[in-house]
Amino acid sequence: MNDSPLALLGGRPVVTAPGPHFVWPPIEDADRCAVAAQLETAVSIPDRSGIVADLEDALASYLGVRHVVTTCTGTAALHSMYAAAGIGPGDEVIVPSLTFHATATPLFHLGAHPVLVDVDDRGRLDLEDAARRLTARTKAVIAVHLWGLPENMDTLVSFTDEHGLMLLEDGSHAHGATWNHQMTGTFGTAAAFSLNGPKPLSAGEGGFVATDDTELYYRILLHGQYNKRCRREIPADHPLARFATTGMGLKLRIHPLAAALARSQITRLEDYLTGRRAVAARMCTVLDSVPGIRVPDLPKAARPSWYALPLRYEPAELGGLPIERFLDALHAEGATEADQPGSTCPLHTHPLFRTPGALLPGYADGHGLPTDGFPAADHVHATTLKLPVWHREGEVRLADAYTAAIAKVATHAKDLT
Ligand SMILES: Cc1ncc(COP(=O)(O)O)c(C=O)c1O
Repeated sequence: MNDSPLALLGGRPVVTAPGPHFVWPPIEDADRCAVAAQLETAVSIPDRSGIVADLEDALASYLGVRHVVTTCTGTAALHSMYAAAGIGPGDEVIVPSLTFHATATPLFHLGAHPVLVDVDDRGRLDLEDAARRLTARTKAVIAVHLWGLPENMDTLVSFTDEHGLMLLEDGSHAHGATWNHQMTGTFGTAAAFSLNGPKPLSAGEGGFVATDDTELYYRILLHGQYNKRCRREIPADHPLARFATTGMGLKLRIHPLAAALARSQITRLEDYLTGRRAVAARMCTVLDSVPGIRVPDLPKAARPSWYALPLRYEPAELGGLPIERFLDALHAEGATEADQPGSTCPLHTHPLFRTPGALLPGYADGHGLPTDGFPAADHVHATTLKLPVWHREGEVRLADAYTAAIAKVATHAKDLT
């Protein structure tokens, strides 16, 4: 225990290691060699061959799905997934109000409507609120495994079955996370994932869609992988084959160098996740008894990927100390990677969701859907602090220093009020 006064008030900081404390993805010689070798092989791949096929095969086998299509970003993967699922003008898709905006924004480009639904106190989709917001136009529900903590897939699957809705998943934070031993991203008709920089599996920039449905696969190809890939993958006698040359007109392919990085990283993904699970458990054990801090309440069925460790802050237990002041004190202790989620925030607070017509002419009359009434999303967001989750044994001391810094600030909170 560091018994010096708070660093913010002139004491000794707890975390003394120089930053940055968390750098992702970890780059090893194998990654350098894979990317360098790809430079000599092909820097543009118009079909399903080479490193693109290799990465898609590895992802499909990791998830246990029939088809994977890689894309240039997770946003593009979501766009292709919604388009291929036949989401179109006037269709409504149930989206948790607390997520990263790209879970929902591609819907605007299909003329569809994201129907925001409140979350529960754990940040999971509130199915009672979802039931209230269903209409004859509701077509699908998108499950988001925020911070790599799996959604409750038992209740979500029952809900979509009961209401005859398509279940889609945004697994962008949750590569390798499981619910009842089943991989997230394999519960619904299709799932989209990001492979962006800090994601558990990273290509630098990239994404992919996973599905068992071959018709959907053809439509994903037609959405963003036109010409050679469509011509070679869609059987000539298929009714959609005649669209192969142009597809739907978008080109959303992954870059081969990004594919090479992700292909190299995926060989270590399980090691990353095992290490993260051990470190997260260790941090939660300590933080569980710190006043003002709540660790995630994990159902037994959930095995997270720990994209981040989201903590809930209870100011009432710390004399009403505002979360911003707590965070300032934590940063002064040297825990500089602790933060409050920024762009992953209640979607109804974004101008795009309130007045989409200002940017998107098709929505000139407004969204036509409620953009207020998400108190739990607002509360969960306003009271979340997140920490990185390290995976290497050598980083355990850093993780311990972060938990000690949080315990110190909580113990000395009265000095700040
Ligand atoms: C939940 C979620 N969905 C989608 C995306 C979009 O992915 P990308 O940045 O690769 O386009 C992100 C990116 O952070 C995300 O967090």
